[in-house]
Amino acid sequence: MGKSSRLPGFYKKPVAERAKVVAEWADLTPEELAALSGEGGTALSPELADKLIENVVGVYGLPLGIAANFQINGRDVLVPMVIEEPSVVAGASFMAKLARAGGGFRTSSTPPEMIGQIQVLDLEDPEAARAAILAHKDELMELADSCDKVVVRLGGGSRDLEVRILDDTPIGPMLIVHLIFDCRDAMGANMVNTACERLAAPIERITGGRVGLRILSNLAERRLARAECTIPAEALAFDEYPGERVVNGIVEAWAFAAADPYRAATHNKGIMNGVDAVVIATGNDWRAIEAGAHAYAARSGRYTSLSTWGKDEAGNLIGSLEMPMAVGIVGGATRAHPVAQVALKILNVRSARELAEIIVAVGLAQNLAALRALATEGIQKGHMALHARQIAISVGATGEQIDRIVERMLQEGEISQPRAQALLKEESGK
Ligand code: MEV
Repeated sequence: MGKSSRLPGFYKKPVAERAKVVAEWADLTPEELAALSGEGGTALSPELADKLIENVVGVYGLPLGIAANFQINGRDVLVPMVIEEPSVVAGASFMAKLARAGGGFRTSSTPPEMIGQIQVLDLEDPEAARAAILAHKDELMELADSCDKVVVRLGGGSRDLEVRILDDTPIGPMLIVHLIFDCRDAMGANMVNTACERLAAPIERITGGRVGLRILSNLAERRLARAECTIPAEALAFDEYPGERVVNGIVEAWAFAAADPYRAATHNKGIMNGVDAVVIATGNDWRAIEAGAHAYAARSGRYTSLSTWGKDEAGNLIGSLEMPMAVGIVGGATRAHPVAQVALKILNVRSARELAEIIVAVGLAQNLAALRALATEGIQKGHMALHARQIAISVGATGEQIDRIVERMLQEGEISQPRAQALLKEESGK
């Protein structure tokens, strides 16, 4: 039997103890454990940061949390999440716990194929240019492969070459070549951009046109990851809310997002709370993921929800999320950032596709957490409880004092540092 990602009482432990639990779970070395706390400059140092970007003057910290309870295709995973917003890690963990009652998340993905775009201008006959490019397809794909022999050896490389004509642009017609390139375990921006730049001169020769842009597309619609879950209605029941009512409320909330772009933007933002947190933790490019997600959400010509929620015949809640997920486990910051390396080790993923699938499962869990709260008690109750907890901790409360102070502040409806300080003083006098 594999390890369980159920970590009862994890949230009550002090930070260092939680880190130890995770270190044991994921077999982290003492150096990797130290990288989590940044002890002795083992996390991202200014020197290393200076190699990543320009004009470095320091490093910027964000909280790294662990979402527990995730079961994905039968495997338990602990999910590192980097995010400044309260409730996100707790929400994902809680929904993953509910999803376990229905067998966890089922995920799948398409091959890691990116699209590189080459813009061709000044063409007298775009149709003829298109035919000419397609007649040279094999040699152009071979040329693209010659740019990165390593990825080709690993089973990646050119997969196809497509040509589109944009008849109606503000400057008239143009022709766009799409190079479809399998990037294997890399996000692939560098390899795709290099290949596109390499194809520019031959494409100019073949078409007689002039090549403009040579760059990958972040609408990575061929590199999709998908997650699904089924949650028994009774697992969703809480307080005065029967399971059936929660299921119906979630479906109604989804229908709102499916029909209305104003709501869909916020609905999808909730999904991205989960997605981005894992993308950042693993050193991936979250702007690329954001761009791809929202473009995909608008692919029908109308911006809509990325996820779908419904009910099966037995009244269980069923959810699914499909979106582009161009992430890597090699190259870029995934390798250079010491904490991203530790995050990848905790996830224990063997391929970029596996990482992409976990990320989408977290996005679906996060979406569920938001909809469940919004469709029932609202999100402020949970937020205020967490806020109160943070305030209690900030004034120096420890252990069970925290829970008592939080409880009092919530009951009294006064959540503030002075009140937390006064309550801590009372506690100390006990
Ligand atoms: C807040 O960060 C995210 C939510 O607004 C998402 C949603 O409304 O579905 C709660």
